[in-house]
Amino acid sequence: MTSPWRSLGLAAFLGATGRREAAPAPAPTSATATAAPEAADEAQAMDARTAVPLLPMMAEHQKEQMRGHLAAVQAIVAALARNDFAGVETAAAKIGYSDSMAQMCTHMGAASPDFTPTALAFHRTADTIGDAARAKNRPAALSALSATLETCVACHAKYKEQVVNQATWTKLTSMPPPMGDHAGHEPE
Ligand code: HEC
Repeated sequence: MTSPWRSLGLAAFLGATGRREAAPAPAPTSATATAAPEAADEAQAMDARTAVPLLPMMAEHQKEQMRGHLAAVQAIVAALARNDFAGVETAAAKIGYSDSMAQMCTHMGAASPDFTPTALAFHRTADTIGDAARAKNRPAALSALSATLETCVACHAKYKEQVVNQATWTKLTSMPPPMGDHAGHEPE
């Protein structure tokens, strides 16, 4: 299976982690004028959740993954509404456990101790949706979906993203940034 990191592209990854922070601020527009760093710091300070430190490209990738998770939940609900168990199974597989998903979650949580187990528990719970769909058991699929959504809710209640630069990331994790391909690499 293709590593999720591969889609990032090593060059794009390195470019985004180093240069983006050094680049001059873009000319203010109505959208960027309100996004001053102090305002972002103020918002971070108001948010008492535990920070998950991430490099810029990792943070972008995590949010992209999250939007995919939401789309998968929507597809599960739509398939359940028409009793399409094969469709439920296909959609649930998108948020289910896989080795590549586990590797990615391990990197995402490298600077935040309990984040990775929380993430893996979510993917394992999502697997129970597929199990129920295979058994064509609609009530079980609905309760598995509810249990899965509980893990989304619990993680969002506890964690927030915090974008950090390369120096901070290295200090927190003693790790280089994730490479384009982790085939054969066992995460710690
Ligand atoms: C292990 C933790 C974890 C789990 C489980 C999790 N999320 Fe997230 N999610 C996050 C974090 C952290 C953010 C960033 C939130 C922040 O900084 O405010 C996020 C953000 C999001 C966003 C916003 C994306 C954006 O573009 O800004 C969506 C949508 C989302 N999650 C959906 C889901 C759904 C749906 C599920 C479950 C099916 C889920 N998440 C499960 C940690 C998690």
